Amino acid sequence: MSVSVVLGDITVSHVDAIVNAANCSLLGGSGVDGAIHRAAGPELLRACQALGGCETGQAKITPAFALPCRYVIHTPGPIWRGGVHNEAALLASCYRSCLSLALEYGCRSVDFPSISTGVYGYPLPQAAHIALRELVAFDRTHEGMALRMVCHTQEALRAYQVDWNMFYQETKPHEE
Ligand code: APR
Repeated sequence: MSVSVVLGDITVSHVDAIVNAANCSLLGGSGVDGAIHRAAGPELLRACQALGGCETGQAKITPAFALPCRYVIHTPGPIWRGGVHNEAALLASCYRSCLSLALEYGCRSVDFPSISTGVYGYPLPQAAHIALRELVAFDRTHEGMALRMVCHTQEALRAYQVDWNMFYQETKPHEE
């Protein structure tokens, strides 16, 4: 299994691609979007301006410029509005869209932030469940891609660890 959960800052990840929890304009913002743009430098904004925005649940890719990774995959997550506006499907689509772009660009290591769980208000337990379900499902059908959830807060880390232990903890074989 090459899915893992870590505590850290995604802007220092030395991986092939990091995912940016963007907004539909792709013109930067606060949160991890702001941190990624600050660390990448102004060329990232220029590259994003050429993309013409992105729909929620879709993803677009740019070079990473001054960041230590090769690519940034930008995906606007859903804004939490109570869970009855297709948020779960849109969040799942963010992870799937990023994974298919990473595959297309030959990435062998991808770091994800916890999409939509900051400014966009998605409850961490539900978001963690969707994120890990999509990463684990992809990992089971694709060899050789190291996938990490990079949590920025202890609270996020705990939410992911709880979901991991509940659903993906390898059960020990029954010993006679
Ligand atoms: N590394 C990893 N994760 C980070 C970092 C970082 N350096 N900085 C913040 N995060 C985490 C937050 O703690 C949160 O768990 O990223 C997660 C997503 O939070 P936001 O960045 O607020 O993104 P989101 O909730 O998807 O809202 C997107 O916020 O920044 C704006 O332009 C963005 O409008 C868009 C909206």
